[in-house]
Amino acid sequence: MSLLFTPLKLRSLELKNRMVMSPMCQYSAQDGLVKAWHRLHYPTRAIGGVGAVLVEATAVESRGRISPDDLGIWSDAHLPGLEALARDIAEAGAVPGIQLAHAGRKAGVSSPWKGGQPLHLWTPVAPSPLPFSEGWDTPRELDWIGLEQVREAFVQGARRALRAGFRLLELHAAHGYLLHSFLSPLTNQRSDQYGGSRKNRMRFVLEVTAAVREVWPAELPLWVRVSASDWVQGGWDIEDTVALAGELAGGGVDLLDCSSGGIAPGIRIPAAPGYQVPFAARVRQETGLPTGAVGLITDPLQAEEILQRGEAEVVLLGRVLLRDPYWGYRAAKALNAGKVWPPQYERALV
Ligand SMILES: Cc1cc2nc3c(=O)[nH]c(=O)nc-3n(C[C@H](O)[C@H](O)[C@H](O)COP(=O)(O)O)c2cc1C
Repeated sequence: MSLLFTPLKLRSLELKNRMVMSPMCQYSAQDGLVKAWHRLHYPTRAIGGVGAVLVEATAVESRGRISPDDLGIWSDAHLPGLEALARDIAEAGAVPGIQLAHAGRKAGVSSPWKGGQPLHLWTPVAPSPLPFSEGWDTPRELDWIGLEQVREAFVQGARRALRAGFRLLELHAAHGYLLHSFLSPLTNQRSDQYGGSRKNRMRFVLEVTAAVREVWPAELPLWVRVSASDWVQGGWDIEDTVALAGELAGGGVDLLDCSSGGIAPGIRIPAAPGYQVPFAARVRQETGLPTGAVGLITDPLQAEEILQRGEAEVVLLGRVLLRDPYWGYRAAKALNAGKVWPPQYERALV
């Protein structure tokens, strides 16, 4: 019996299988608004068989966009587009999910295909006034009022995500963006209660998570994506992640999505098939918190084995779904998982 195609219940939400589309920025929005591209791109992957689709990093503040082309959720004007998107994904057969994000000191750059360089459009914010790299803006250190504003922006984002019809919420605390930059000693040099010890560096992430959990319905799951390691001496590492996971589990988080990297430029990451899976496995084993494995998972058998070995509850699929939206059907065939496509495809694929 294939585990990949076994439904997963999280609170009162059921995923029909354990394949999740990993959040991936499309850099195709304007003023944060959903465009035709999003409404074609995401539902196509839903038709392609995944159990849930996580819509890309969606900014809770306009200054928290990675690029001006990011999706946003900082105002009610974003609701109609997001409602249509969530409905389209659900109608196409997947649980509609969304990732709430704030890019922190990595905000305000051009889209990758336009160079990915700082545009100097607004002053980014961060735990400490340390630029990401040479030529990047020095971020403004968030004071207590600023922290409250960001917390509230995540809360309002969660409320809007719910109103829009999303049923799975993920907080982006990875890849060097704002929440991750509070965790890592490389980017957090504060001397107040939000900096210094690991407990203090975890405080803001835990506060944001708790505030979001309060407004996100008890019957719906909340996920957090972390960078389980900065891949550099003196940075955030897997021991820290295990400690954070324990706190998040107690704070009503249902799954830790274990990514890595992104805190600073020039760090070598040993990317290879499944290279981040051991992080998910360790967190699951040491804390009991369900995990998501992500990163170079491209082969159905590989995905199945990750689940069979008990390393994660779900696999998140990124680039492989950009190349092949219908990867899920290929996986079903490879694993002999039976009919998983929608009835419209019955005569063609049976
Ligand atoms: C074009 C692109 C955009 C991405 N945008 C996001 C994002 O919005 N949020 C996020 O957490 N990760 C983002 N990622 C990382 C992916 O979600 C995923 O973790 C990564 O690509 C590794 O998985 P893969 O090897 O299956 O692609 C992005 C990756 C790509 C290729």
